[in-house]
Formats: sequence, structure tokens, C-alpha cells
Amino acid sequence: MKQKKTTKKNRWDDHYTLKARKEKYPARSVYKLEEIQNKYHVIKKGHRVLDLGCAPGSWLLYTADIVGSKGNVVGIDKKPITINIPPHVNIISDNIMSLGEKNAAAVAGPFHVVLSDMAPSTTGNKTVDEARSLSLCEAALEIAKKQLIPGGAFICKIFQGGDIKLFTDAVRVCFSTVKIFKPKSSRKASKEIFIIGFRKKQEENICQVTANGLQ
Ligand SMILES: C[S@@+](CC[C@H](N)C(=O)[O-])C[C@H]1O[C@@H](n2cnc3c(N)ncnc32)[C@H](O)[C@@H]1O
Repeated sequence: MKQKKTTKKNRWDDHYTLKARKEKYPARSVYKLEEIQNKYHVIKKGHRVLDLGCAPGSWLLYTADIVGSKGNVVGIDKKPITINIPPHVNIISDNIMSLGEKNAAAVAGPFHVVLSDMAPSTTGNKTVDEARSLSLCEAALEIAKKQLIPGGAFICKIFQGGDIKLFTDAVRVCFSTVKIFKPKSSRKASKEIFIIGFRKKQEENICQVTANGLQ
């Protein structure tokens, strides 16, 4: 049988996948958050963190370790979490686009950090996938605006596309500093990047702007 050629690309893929397996993380995506954390030190010991789109749970484990037992992590996902989680992590199984009353109360802040690694089910149609990613990001931003403490931080994955500038502008309205970050561990072919909002502004300094413009 013909052997599949090992390309530079899949050697690189293997590095993060094998590393995740070795370090007992359920997904290689943990290294994207680790790169963000190593560069910006967003999550701190004792923090309360909300993790939107938390399954299969590698960001949960990584974050739980940083915040420690005096902190708390709340994760929410449409899919179930099957890994063992520490006692200071709470999981909610729900769709953030249609949260029931009980679950809406469970994701109520105040949080120091809101994370969103949410990804839509992809169709292969670039326009549809970008639009779905944008809708998730807008929903995450609305949650961050309501649930973060003033001074809090927001890390949000988005698929690059036409409306990314509008979304970044919407984040800029609510946060004092905004950075755009493409982790090395993100697959080169992936259109994903991370928008990071630092120091959420006080409520009275935030006007209502969404990626669709001023409201
Ligand atoms: C890339 S995975 C997240 C990986 C996670 N950060 C980790 O490290 O294990 C994206 C997740 O977003 C979730 N997701 C997408 N849309 C969602 C929605 N509307 N509500 C809740 N979760 C959603 C998916 O179910 C999927 O588990």
C-alpha cells in the first residue's frame, strides 16, 4: 500500500494534537488560549471566568488551573462535557442563542473574563460560515457587556471575513484596548482569529453599537 507522505503541515498538526494528548487536554485548542495568556496575562488567580462554547473542555481545564480553587469557571455548550472537571467549574448544557430563564441566571455575572471559542457548524460556504460565526460573536459580546465587571476582559474567536472590522469596532466601543491575535497553534488554513478586549468600560461610557452599526 502506498504510504501517505508526511508533509511539513501534518507534522506541525501532530505536534499540537500529540501534545494535547500527552498533557491530557481533550482538544489541541488549549494551546491557542495558552498563547493568548502567555502574551497578555488576561486570566488571574481567583478570577470568575465564563467560557462560551466550552466543549470538549480544554479551555475549561486550563482556565480552572489558573484561577485556582478560590476562583470559579462557568462553561456553557450545546454539546455535553464528558471529561472530569474540578469542583470550582460549573457546566451548563444549552444554546447561548436561546438560553432558558434558569440557565440565563446561571451565566449571570459578575465575571472578570468572558471567553468565546464558539464555532458554528460549517457548511463550506464561506459567506454562510462567516455570517454564522459573526452571529455567535455578537451574542458573546452582548453577554460580555452585561456580565463583565468594569475593567473585565473579553476573548472571542471569529472567522475572518467582510464584517470583522465592524465587529472589532463594536468591541472597541466597550473596551479601552482591543488586540487582534492569530495564535501560531491555529491551523494556517483556518480563517479564525481572536479579538481581545481589555478593560471593559464603565456602563455609562458604552453606547449601543453592534456589528450592524449604531443603535
Ligand atoms: C472549537 S469548540 C470549543 C473548544 C473548547 N474551547 C475547548 O478547548 O475544548 C466550539 C464549541 O462551540 C460550541 N457552540 C457553537 N455554537 C454554540 C451555541 N450557540 N451555544 C453554545 N455552544 C455553542 C460547539 O458546540 C463547540 O463545542
